[in-house]
Amino acid sequence: MPKSQNSQKPHDRMAAFLADDLAAVNKLIRTRMASEHAPRIPEVTAHLVEAGGKRLRPMLTLAAAHMCGYEGPYHINLAATVEFIHTATLLHDDVVDESAQRRGRPTANLLWDNKSSVLVGDYLFARSFQLMTETGSLRVLDILSNASATIAEGEVLQLTASQDLATNEDVYLKVVRGKTAALFSAAMEVGGVIADAPEAQVRALFEYGDALGIAFQIVDDLLDFQGDAGAIGKNIGDDFRERKLTMPLIKAVARADAEERDFWVRTIEKGKQTDGDLETAVALLHKHDALTDTGVAARAWATKAKSALSQVPDHAVKQMLVDLADYVVERIN
Ligand code: IPE
Ligand code: IPE
Ligand code: MG
Ligand code: MG
Repeated sequence: MPKSQNSQKPHDRMAAFLADDLAAVNKLIRTRMASEHAPRIPEVTAHLVEAGGKRLRPMLTLAAAHMCGYEGPYHINLAATVEFIHTATLLHDDVVDESAQRRGRPTANLLWDNKSSVLVGDYLFARSFQLMTETGSLRVLDILSNASATIAEGEVLQLTASQDLATNEDVYLKVVRGKTAALFSAAMEVGGVIADAPEAQVRALFEYGDALGIAFQIVDDLLDFQGDAGAIGKNIGDDFRERKLTMPLIKAVARADAEERDFWVRTIEKGKQTDGDLETAVALLHKHDALTDTGVAARAWATKAKSALSQVPDHAVKQMLVDLADYVVERIN
């Protein structure tokens, strides 16, 4: 029996609403990921692109443009740009994190090698800049090139914040805002800018994307401890193994007694991990309500995202964005 409209997940409803646009975006992605000269490029990009991915960020751009009454063709370019930037950062991120699984498949770095992932990621970055240049909007170029720099900055800040038990929630927020929320907010913002929306609306779109991106990454970090690998298409425990100070861990470290602190010093600072340590870590997170409280923080960001939308005119897709904010935190359950 077909699911009723409302029992569908918000991003599925959005995908249905934006189906024609998304088909055009996917077509453009396929055309532009090709390469005449280097067969390795389409091999790697096809592996990632055919695996799907939720297409969350391009949907944000399309939704923002529609909400602001845009009727031209360039939201398609911008949505493809955003997905190219996202895909490039995933290729690089899986090298940096030494990850083995992405979108339910072995990572490109595992199937080919780190060199291929880094270089094909660079290729996609460059292609993304071509796509956005075609819009002729310098402001859009400014926003997306700035977002690309901010993503890289967030990833580099995370590198130095890892393995350091002094990393606090302020540093964590900077990392998350950079590596993840910057693309969510830019994706929303360029949708408004291309539609020539009033500044207050463009600002509101940015705020929504920023808060949604932060909620999304907090939940991603939560799922790294308590998720289901099959459901999220990535391995569990990668962050602990990589000794990353994500929000659940930061909370547990702050609440640790002397013996627990020794455990964190050994596993996170010294990186001397053995079998059973991940299970011990998860037990400590539960003991100190670190996972529950991280969920509370994610919900607060989702609420902030929803309230930013009050500045935006009513539109069929607006309610889907509201529901999407709820959904990114409901993934916890
Ligand atoms: C993965 O993002 C990277 C993070 C910011 C956690 P998504 O979960 O949106 O990735 P895909 O595109 O759906 O695979
Ligand atoms: C994702 O960071 C952010 C970027 C890709 C820049 P993570 O490393 O936390 O995301 P996953 O868990 O690998 O998707
Ligand atoms: Mg990663
Ligand atoms: Mg990473």
